[in-house]
Amino acid sequence: MIGRLNHVAIAVPDLEAAAAQYRGALGANVGAPQDEPDHGVTVIFIELPNTKIELLYPLGENSPIQGFLDKNPSGGIHHICYEVDDIAAARDTLIEGGARILGTGEPKIGAHGKPVLFLHPKDFNGCLIELEEV
Ligand code: CO
Repeated sequence: MIGRLNHVAIAVPDLEAAAAQYRGALGANVGAPQDEPDHGVTVIFIELPNTKIELLYPLGENSPIQGFLDKNPSGGIHHICYEVDDIAAARDTLIEGGARILGTGEPKIGAHGKPVLFLHPKDFNGCLIELEEV
């Protein structure tokens, strides 16, 4: 069901410093910051030859990233994103198998303008999984 790895998301305590590090020390192709108010995050995408890295920083009062940074003050891997062809079909299959979808269970529009869902980390070896329809 899942296809390519779309991105690995890293929550960072200082977005500018993290972008400068990827651009400078790691020599990566770093994009511009984008505010995603529906998701409570500001993101920067880094294009790698085979996937992307998503730097995540809290936006607004109830950002889901803030609690993660409180527990992991130096930042850390927050989620990984797999591509799927049909997100509604993927969701229905996962729910039938007993997996839990975060939020309402309805896909939201993600940072690439495509529908996304998040799967409960307790159902997937402690790893928060994002599915993105491509
Ligand atoms: Co993501």
